[in-house]
Amino acid sequence: MSRKYLIAGNWKMNKTPADGADLAKEIASFVSKDESVEVVVCPTAVALDRVSQVIEDSAVKLGAQNLYPKASGAYTGEISAEMLRAVFAKYVILGHSERREYFAETDAFVNEKVKFALESNLIPILCIGETLEQREADETLEVNKTQLLGGMEGVSAEDAAKVVIAYEPVWAIGTGKTATPEMAQEVHAAIRSVLAEKYGSSVAEKIRILYGGSMKPANADDLLAQKDIDGGLIGGAALEAKSFCDLIESARKAD
Ligand code: PGA
Repeated sequence: MSRKYLIAGNWKMNKTPADGADLAKEIASFVSKDESVEVVVCPTAVALDRVSQVIEDSAVKLGAQNLYPKASGAYTGEISAEMLRAVFAKYVILGHSERREYFAETDAFVNEKVKFALESNLIPILCIGETLEQREADETLEVNKTQLLGGMEGVSAEDAAKVVIAYEPVWAIGTGKTATPEMAQEVHAAIRSVLAEKYGSSVAEKIRILYGGSMKPANADDLLAQKDIDGGLIGGAALEAKSFCDLIESARKAD
């Protein structure tokens, strides 16, 4: 399979710049220059610059947790793509369920950000996922399809091949409840077939689909063994070097 496994740490609203630098240092020393797994850390905005300097000479890449889809101007509290590029960020998490829930982000707004990120040479990690209520109402595949197509609207096939999708069932995030590997695989396969319908199967085969939601060393091997699971977007277990590096090791073994 040509897709490279990707392990991304979403630090959310955790770690001061100093604590982030310490964590990044440990991760960078674990990751080799010719690493078979792509490794990304996504600190808070204020820690980006410091972490960027720490990982500069390593294979670890930098991601941001959000951006605002305007070039610059009167948008108090927001961060532009240019600013992220200036600190050498390569990835940006967009449409995370916490942003959808607490900051009322819609598919249309997430789509604006996805397109803006791509125009700005940043790779979006587009997050989608159903709530427990939606899963229980048997709406899982429909909800994920709507969020996926909404987020990718107007994105060309060439750009789509670069995008990373993260399937994160909302009920599994930070709860300790993980989707079983079979449950996750079913949704990942459905996501890939929606992408194949829209972009053709050769593009869909290139797009990496990460699983997120209480991924940890104890369950990673079984999740990463699934055909359509190409890595993980990790919250809690990304906050400590040991567990995050164990996840990188799981992806190395799955390769
Ligand atoms: P979690 O978070 O690993 O703590 O469940 C994942 C995420 O929200 O990206």
